[in-house]
Amino acid sequence: MITRKQVQLKDKTLEELTVKLDQIELSILNYGATITSLKTPNKDGQLENIVLSYQDIKDYEHNASYLNAIIGPTSGRIKDGRIQINHQSIQLDQNFQDKHHLHGGKECFAFQMFDLSYEETKDLVKVHASLKIDSEDSFYPGNKTISITYEISPGKLSILFQGESDQDTYLNMTSHLYFNLSGGKESILAEEVMIQADKVIDLDKEFLPSSIQPVEEMNLDMRKPVVISDLLTDNLTHSHIKGIDHPFILDKTDTIDASLYDKKSGRFMQVTTSYPVIVCYSHNYPEDKLLTNHTRNEPHQGICFEAQYTPNPEVFPTLDQPLLKKGQLYQERTTFHFSIK
Ligand code: GAL
Repeated sequence: MITRKQVQLKDKTLEELTVKLDQIELSILNYGATITSLKTPNKDGQLENIVLSYQDIKDYEHNASYLNAIIGPTSGRIKDGRIQINHQSIQLDQNFQDKHHLHGGKECFAFQMFDLSYEETKDLVKVHASLKIDSEDSFYPGNKTISITYEISPGKLSILFQGESDQDTYLNMTSHLYFNLSGGKESILAEEVMIQADKVIDLDKEFLPSSIQPVEEMNLDMRKPVVISDLLTDNLTHSHIKGIDHPFILDKTDTIDASLYDKKSGRFMQVTTSYPVIVCYSHNYPEDKLLTNHTRNEPHQGICFEAQYTPNPEVFPTLDQPLLKKGQLYQERTTFHFSIK
């Protein structure tokens, strides 16, 4: 079943689309193609929202945490906002500490109006969010067409990222979903996380991805499930990073790339992706806003698995680069599988 609702955000009339299919209920805003709620059952069959959501829809307008929005043209930080495409140096806007480029800068997809449409069959609903970008409005080269498809089927949410450009450009899109499998009743500290990666990228003093390290040397070994509170050691939480905010280079030795488990509710989520990297972010610097379950948006209330190409790519020439050639189809997929354990 699909319902549509209009929401007023200052001068903008937004549309929120809600899909109910089997045991999943998902709401999406056309602004940022942002997920405003994702409900799945706990072990007693009770549907609860397992992503952080603002209580006041107006908070999505500036959305400093990029809560559940689509990020693009590029995800993560780029040093000095400088990229090289075909030997041409391009200056992007420096929206992070007035120095570096973060999450596509002011043209981030989180702040764009997408067009929503849908297709519905008995066991699958596809919500298409599409966006056209004129190169004149962008620091990045190319007129682009972007399409994000949320595919909802029993026990599964799959996100298909597609794009095309009429010039060689950078494209590195992700979904910035913040999960809390307790339904927001508790922080994520007691949840168990797994990421199938033996290499992780360290961050420098300015939060820039800087060097590739073995996970065990960074105390970020999650190849076997670990309770999040055991990972958030003083070393990490007392550092400038204040928690986990690192790109993990996926091994791709297993069919599952990451997972999250909440013992109390029984909710188990597995993540698979075609992307080479997952940035795991333990929500270390939240803005103080009210969330739907009347909790404050506090540190470690949620955890993100931002599947993408390597951020700050030019520092890592041996890793996959987010270069999209003119006329080529960008196509990547991330899937979240929900079950009870
Ligand atoms: C993450 C990023 C963090 C922080 C967050 C938004 O993707 O790695 O450093 O900027 O987004 O609050």
